[in-house]
Amino acid sequence: MKEPKIVLKANLPTPIEELSFNGTSFYMKRDDFTGSEYSGNKIRKLEYLLADAIRKKADYVFTCGGAQSNHARATAFAAASLGMKSKLFLRGKDKALAEGNMFLDKMVGAELKFISAKDYSEARNDIMVAEAKKLKKKGKKVYIIPEGGSNAMGVWGYINCVQEIAEQIDLKSFKGILSACGSGGTSAGLLVGAALLGLKLKVYAVNVCDDEEYFRKRIIELAEECIKNYKLDCKLDPKKLVIIDGYSKEGYTNISKDKVKVISSLAKQTGVLLDPTYTGKAFCAYNDHFLKGKKKSKVMFIHTGGLFGAFAHRKEYLAG
Ligand SMILES: Cc1ncc(COP(=O)(O)O)c(C=O)c1O
Repeated sequence: MKEPKIVLKANLPTPIEELSFNGTSFYMKRDDFTGSEYSGNKIRKLEYLLADAIRKKADYVFTCGGAQSNHARATAFAAASLGMKSKLFLRGKDKALAEGNMFLDKMVGAELKFISAKDYSEARNDIMVAEAKKLKKKGKKVYIIPEGGSNAMGVWGYINCVQEIAEQIDLKSFKGILSACGSGGTSAGLLVGAALLGLKLKVYAVNVCDDEEYFRKRIIELAEECIKNYKLDCKLDPKKLVIIDGYSKEGYTNISKDKVKVISSLAKQTGVLLDPTYTGKAFCAYNDHFLKGKKKSKVMFIHTGGLFGAFAHRKEYLAG
């Protein structure tokens, strides 16, 4: 097994807290504590990806995401901390008074290129490659990170996280781990990490876009690619992956009133805030499946961050 190198330092290990919601106790892995400007799950993947960018002597890092992408924001800050420039290819339109993640992207000096939803879904990688070629002609080297940092190398972020959790708590007493899923790399890492440690854990992925079929294929593909590329000594059991679909009917960037109520109750009862796009939806699924009617949950919730996204949804949050 050959683990890729790390140069950045996320704030690890993140704590695991025992909390109580509506009378049910449960464990939450606080990956919203991985940093401040680069908080959330993405920095775990970026630790590996940006080490690769430095190895390849990149001047620029390119990546893509939604207008409020946590991944894009974390990439821009992490690149700046390593002395690299960043360019973010964002789906949507610029806002004169940028909020949340987009405000932070601008503050850190990332170059922003806005692209239509159609171009984003059909050609985002081609667009990034074409721009990288232009810079190459000027003697600059570009390192391209795919959406969400989800490729075989990025998967290492959450292989590492399972190992970290196993050192903090007896994972054998848990039935599973649940997280939000947007590009699949987090869930793929959890699957591979659990397989490497021989754990029987189920990996529950709450998809915030696309559907069950898409993510089952995508996550297994990513996990298998990582196992193959790094010659990892483990066998994947696809039955360990459970996709919990149906929690993003309001749309990727939106949040429904009933979900805001859960987010707001959790904040009041525990002092933990969730974001509208990912963790808010994932926690509602977690509550329905693994908290309601139980004294203690045997599934761990991973808070994957995204807090800045809440600032772009102040109206909906305050109305809840
Ligand atoms: C806050 C947050 N949680 C969860 C996810 C999902 O992680 P992944 O893209 O690895 O599926 C993302 C990004 O997509 C995110 O920004």
